[in-house]
Amino acid sequence: MNVKNLCLAVVGFALIGLTACTSKNDKTCQNEVKPIEVAVPERPAGQQDVIQLTTPKLDTVRVGFVGLGMRGPGAVQRWTHIPGTKIVALCDVEPDRVAKANEILVKAGLPKAAEYSGSTEVYKELCDRDDIDIVYIATDWIHHAPIAIYAMEKGKHAAIEVPAATSLQECWDLINTSERTRKHCMMLENCVYDFFELTTLNMAQKGLFGDILHVEGSYIHNLSDFWGDYWNNWRLDFNRKHKGDVYATHGFGPACQLLNIHRGDRLKTLVAMESIPATGPELVKKYSNEDGSDFKNGDHTMTIMRTEKGKTILIEHDVMNPRPYSRMYQLTGTKGFANKYPVEQYCFMPEQVDEKVVPNHENLSAHSAVPVAVKDAMMQEYKHPIHQEIEEIAKQVGGHGGMDYVMDYRLVYCLRNGLPLDMDVYDLAEWSCVGELGAISIENGSAPVAVPDFTRGAWNKVDGYHHQFVK
Ligand SMILES: NC(=O)c1ccc[n+]([C@@H]2O[C@H](COP(=O)([O-])OP(=O)(O)OC[C@H]3O[C@@H](n4cnc5c(N)ncnc54)[C@H](O)[C@@H]3O)[C@@H](O)[C@H]2O)c1
Repeated sequence: MNVKNLCLAVVGFALIGLTACTSKNDKTCQNEVKPIEVAVPERPAGQQDVIQLTTPKLDTVRVGFVGLGMRGPGAVQRWTHIPGTKIVALCDVEPDRVAKANEILVKAGLPKAAEYSGSTEVYKELCDRDDIDIVYIATDWIHHAPIAIYAMEKGKHAAIEVPAATSLQECWDLINTSERTRKHCMMLENCVYDFFELTTLNMAQKGLFGDILHVEGSYIHNLSDFWGDYWNNWRLDFNRKHKGDVYATHGFGPACQLLNIHRGDRLKTLVAMESIPATGPELVKKYSNEDGSDFKNGDHTMTIMRTEKGKTILIEHDVMNPRPYSRMYQLTGTKGFANKYPVEQYCFMPEQVDEKVVPNHENLSAHSAVPVAVKDAMMQEYKHPIHQEIEEIAKQVGGHGGMDYVMDYRLVYCLRNGLPLDMDVYDLAEWSCVGELGAISIENGSAPVAVPDFTRGAWNKVDGYHHQFVK
């Protein structure tokens, strides 16, 4: 039975026998709607989880890039600035894109890389080489998982752009391959390294917000300047064929790190709801001359989740309509609050603030944001050790203001030092799965859906989310 049929069977059983509570005063009424459950494939015999996976230290991290459209060449450029790396090979279907990316190396005074182009399968030749340690994948979404799986099978680590997986099946395939091959498989989620996010995570880990109860994130980004530029119109096409939050990770990743997901807590249940597809079909008319009436993805999608420990998360997605860019990034704790968009602000219970950092802190109010000068002083005080080390170079090299460099730098740092990576294959699955799980919820009247435990029992092995450093 495939995942979809299994879900339908389960929702059918869940709804049978459910009698609605009719009176608010009826204390005996404790109907609990059983969530729809999706299949969790058993871990193959002899295979172990890859929580805190470490691999032998690499003196030089030798990389091959696959996918050199709008996003890929920026990564090539950033890697020319990272010590201890060697760019060995470049691959894209389109030969001119590969040649152009090689010019980046020439400009940086580096030797040209081997070129692969001409088909959607040519990446296999790159992966077959024996002088590459990691394959860095920035293709359209549907090619992410097959390339990463092939790379791991050929003994390479895989780093995959967001979202790394487009279905539950791909999530499990990536997990099983990483567990079996003992290779790292990391999603290249850059927003967890942005300056406000990482500083706030540091504050959270030091207890400034008390117990974090609720986190919000989003990807609100009008893509009207880009729709015409995606290779073979892949992005609009994917939205046309799929419901659910298809690009959740920029808002969701930071939320999961704040809540220590699969490091002491885990995602348990999800419900999703969407608006009608309104602008989506119009875009189809504009970019493909078809009528777009089959467009599946609602313009605005909301996904709400609850964790094992009773924390909540709200994630939103709208890439179609006119709105200021927002990843939301908002948290509510028992002792404080943080918000990144539309303005960065913090609010704290006065006793949470160290008098040495902010004099006269007793004047702070628990119902308004701290003054900008206080926010700035706090951000300076709680700057994350990663930013303390590389903020300057990250801002010089750039990539979304520097966070992309921080992400690539950390990946290389951990590989060179044989440390567990900042994000593992279970993060990848958890942050990518809301697409298909949300679609299941939406297609069943926004019914609750159980989020599978991708660690298959290991979500409580590590106590809290932490970046690793050389001791
Ligand atoms: N993290 C971020 O901030 C961020 C920003 C932009 C894009 N992205 C992600 O980066 C990826 C690429 O996006 P983009 O905007 O560059 O898209 P794009 O359409 O501009 O580029 C995709 C490239 O992949 C190539 N390609 C497709 N299949 C291939 C295959 N099998 N082998 C080799 N090359 C192949 C295409 O020829 C094209 O050049 C997407 O996953 C996207 O979501 C992430």
